[in-house]
Amino acid sequence: MLNYIKIGECILAKAKNLYVCSNCGAQSLKWMGQCLECNVWNSLHEERVAENLSPNTMRYSGYAGAADNSKVISLNEIQAIDNKRISTGIMEFDRVLGNGLVAGSVILLGGDPGIGKSTLLLQTLIGLSLDFPTLYVTGEESPQQIALRAQRLNLLENKVQLLAETRVSRIIEICAQTKPCMVVIDSIQTLYCDELTSAPGSVSQVRESAAQLVHYAKRTNTILFLIGHVTKEGALAGPRILEHMVDTVLYFEGQADSRFRMIRAFKNRYGAANELGVFAMTEQGLREVANPSAIFLSGYQQAVSGSVIMATWEGTRPLLVEVQALVNESSLAQPRRVTVGFEQNRLAMLLAVLQRHAGTIIVNQDVFINIVGGLRVVETAVDLALLLAIISSLRNQAVKSDLVAFGEVGLAGEIRPVQGGQERLKEALKHGFKRVIMPFANKPKSVATGIEVYSLQHIGELLEILPKIMQ
Ligand code: TYD
Ligand code: MG
Repeated sequence: MLNYIKIGECILAKAKNLYVCSNCGAQSLKWMGQCLECNVWNSLHEERVAENLSPNTMRYSGYAGAADNSKVISLNEIQAIDNKRISTGIMEFDRVLGNGLVAGSVILLGGDPGIGKSTLLLQTLIGLSLDFPTLYVTGEESPQQIALRAQRLNLLENKVQLLAETRVSRIIEICAQTKPCMVVIDSIQTLYCDELTSAPGSVSQVRESAAQLVHYAKRTNTILFLIGHVTKEGALAGPRILEHMVDTVLYFEGQADSRFRMIRAFKNRYGAANELGVFAMTEQGLREVANPSAIFLSGYQQAVSGSVIMATWEGTRPLLVEVQALVNESSLAQPRRVTVGFEQNRLAMLLAVLQRHAGTIIVNQDVFINIVGGLRVVETAVDLALLLAIISSLRNQAVKSDLVAFGEVGLAGEIRPVQGGQERLKEALKHGFKRVIMPFANKPKSVATGIEVYSLQHIGELLEILPKIMQ
């Protein structure tokens, strides 16, 4: 039984302890090893949750930014206004945002610590501050640290307003007074609402803080950036809750030891999802990479066995990436299948196809796959290049250095067409490649002289053309 305490007119329930899933926010009365909602293990954490929200907690009707009086309107009557985009001044960042920023949009930027979230948003805000009133809210670093970073970035000439605050109500109050066009919150995990008793960073605090800020942004047409930390498992704390509240979800990708940083759009209400922006971390902060294809090639002039260039499709553009395979005799009863940047199960499937339909047996061999440059390739068009890299490593014979391959391989050994075939071909030719292996269904009508296109229908045909493409 809950004890109710009467304070004046309002009735408050005593706070009680609940177990909240850090992945999906589901609540449970008892601790469990696995969340019943999202099936993630070890994600339940004890939190103090007030049964009834205090009367100060705001609750809104309608969509996040709507006025109170909701009524039914015909879709035809609504004027679709194509919102004007504001350029961030960084082309690659504009690309992942879907051609720039839209007024009133809320953007969540997630990533590992130290990957460059604060740097990127400070750079962006400084660039925009010359034309728009901006506010940088820091809950993690002191204003001195931010000033030092701006100095390091050589961006001292700016009009950014700084606020060191973690209380949401105070942040909203200051925003209402100063009316900034753009606000950066660094980070959402440090904020708290007075109405909740749980600690900052807990699911309920993150959810409530974000909800109040999102409502403010929608109501006032402010652009809001939320920086979010990634947990050890690689998910934002309470990702599902935050992901559906915001318009755009961007994640930093890339290895910490690499100079290159990728930002991927996981969700975007104003642009293409899965769009990829490529940056390099330099002494003067993040710089966009104008020609990303060039950085994902290992740069070896000499062709080596097990290495093949593929044309992959990232968001709305093709990208040339090097895939490397190493096939080596195994000393284990169960040979190893190790992949970096590629799905392991798909490798097992492709090896089975290779054995069944191309007669290449790799049973006693360890297979290692690496996608150069820290990129993660999720599309199936990499299959053909991957199989070619495996065959090349197995035979210890390099493929010609001016060759690019792409195409999906099916379970029957058939080679399936892929999206953007012509654009991939064009990207390869643009970078001086002269031979392209591609699916038959993607075959171009004509190609320039001096270019050789091998269009295949079955994996068996790959073995037939090997003498022509091996060094
Ligand atoms: P930061 O933006 O603080 O990361 P996050 O906010 O995601 O935790 O990035 C800090 C890293 O970037 C740090 O390791 C130092 C490096 N860095 C540079 O290499 N050059 C620079 O100009 C700046 C500002 C940071
Ligand atoms: Mg930071």
